Amino acid sequence: MIKVKPYDKVALIYNSLMKDVDYNIWSEYIKKIADIHLKGIERVLELASGNCSIGKILSSKFRTFIASDISFSMLKSSDSPDVTKICCDMTSLPFKTKFDFIFSAFDSINYISNRKKLFKFFIDINNLLNDGCIFTFDASMESNSLNYTVPKNTSYRFNDYSFRKVSRYKKLKKTHYNLFVIDHISGTEYKELHKQKIYNFETYFKLAEKAGLKMQAYYNYFTFEQAGPESERVQFVMRKTKV
Ligand SMILES: C[S@@+](CC[C@H](N)C(=O)[O-])C[C@H]1O[C@@H](n2cnc3c(N)ncnc32)[C@H](O)[C@@H]1O
Repeated sequence: MIKVKPYDKVALIYNSLMKDVDYNIWSEYIKKIADIHLKGIERVLELASGNCSIGKILSSKFRTFIASDISFSMLKSSDSPDVTKICCDMTSLPFKTKFDFIFSAFDSINYISNRKKLFKFFIDINNLLNDGCIFTFDASMESNSLNYTVPKNTSYRFNDYSFRKVSRYKKLKKTHYNLFVIDHISGTEYKELHKQKIYNFETYFKLAEKAGLKMQAYYNYFTFEQAGPESERVQFVMRKTKV
């Protein structure tokens, strides 16, 4: 079995994994958040964009739209040549110019492995936003992960691949593991382990505010209803306040 980096091989089966996700609705939701919280958005940065399913829909709506992801395989598997893509780690962002709207979708923030890194990340986002501008992301919460204290298995087939996903939450470590075992018809087997940190609801408030970002809203995902500590997925909206 060949051990590979997260999303190296999952990139090849990602669309099949996400077949039930409606990226039109997701994109519309993000655009609505942008419209509600800010006028005159010109420069947009997407973090952890994966294969740019959202960028493909939203990029033409803004003057500048950059999609970024740490996984070259994910960016490469995108079928959107028109979307500007940059391969980079969101915990070490290379940008020198600022943005009006920064967002990330699908619990990608949970890949930030500890509070120290999450705090530094919020500081970097604050520095990267123009005054009064917005950062939004969704995070997967413990109420969701608690459904996986007993591991859950799912199997799929896609093109020349068959794959198995084992999802498991370790409450003491506050870590959600997704193990992917991917078999190619040639007989080669790959293994990818994804680790996502599950932070307390309050942690996002504490660290963001300490970093200078003001919490504007926190919605139950895909709604505009206020979320709470028991929510399964929360859409956080933060604003850079003028200094
Ligand atoms: C669940 S996928 C979501 C992809 C995309 N946002 C979507 O909605 O389809 C998580 C993504 O986070 C990316 N990612 C994980 N850690 C990252 C990091 N430190 N910096 C940038 N991207 C990261 C992965 O490469 C992967 O593409």
